[in-house]
Amino acid sequence: MPIIIDGKATAAKIVEEIKKDVITISENIHRKTILALLLVGEDPASQIYVRSKSKRCEETGIESIVLKKDASTSEEEVLDIIQSWNSDDTIDGILVQLPLPKHINESKVLYNISPKKDVDGFHPENVGRLVAGLPTFIPCTPMGIYELLKRYEINLNGKHCVVLGRSNIVGKPIANLLYQKNPNANAIVTICHTGAKDLSYYTKQADVLIAAMGVPELIKANDIKDGAVIIDVGINRIPDPNTAKGYRVVGDVDYNDVINKVSAITPVPGGVGPMTISMLLLNTLRSAKKEIYK
Ligand code: GUN
Repeated sequence: MPIIIDGKATAAKIVEEIKKDVITISENIHRKTILALLLVGEDPASQIYVRSKSKRCEETGIESIVLKKDASTSEEEVLDIIQSWNSDDTIDGILVQLPLPKHINESKVLYNISPKKDVDGFHPENVGRLVAGLPTFIPCTPMGIYELLKRYEINLNGKHCVVLGRSNIVGKPIANLLYQKNPNANAIVTICHTGAKDLSYYTKQADVLIAAMGVPELIKANDIKDGAVIIDVGINRIPDPNTAKGYRVVGDVDYNDVINKVSAITPVPGGVGPMTISMLLLNTLRSAKKEIYK
């Protein structure tokens, strides 16, 4: 029987751990731990994400400041907000929800967040530290995957991990985590992207397959090795007239097709997804504790 990697239960456990830690940290720093969130524009998905991030903060005792600006906000104004949060010693973490409206240069905004408060792990200084194997803020989704693999004691040492997707948010950072020389990693890593002529040539070689390319149910049983571990990062809506909403959410892997061939798998929903916000809270705590930048 394959192991179903339960991200929902694991995330709930981590949230309980965080709640205890928040109390101790507040006593040590004599104030609340604070995460500042900036949402620019009216993107419906972003509004939902920011609301859930803020709600989860409150549940754990982390205070959240949510600033909503309309889509016409200038880049200069956004940079001013970040500057004021950077220099506010009571703010531990800063998150600017992506995507930003087209007239705002996303990289410029992200690079202006102080690396010391960069709980998303997107600042080039933190990206560089990850590559160099130094303590850093790790982007939340890859950190969630890493945590799941660790907690389910999936041994990566010398295993071939194939990552599908080269995004800055998932593909690149997870690949960089998995090949690091430490007891929870040390994997041999291949990164595949749209340039791959025959994707299944690579996926069939994977002991651990991390699918993060955003194509619904692309990976079938014929594409994987017997006993592979599947980490499915995809969150895709596909039309389904048999559901009340008219759609259902599926991953990048065809779960029902592969289930009898895998040794472990993350379901969608309920796998990687729920881990992401708990990692954001963890990064905020690490910032409050000055764990990375002393
Ligand atoms: N939009 C989609 N995913 C993310 C994320 O991890 N962080 C931020 N800031 N925006 C996002």
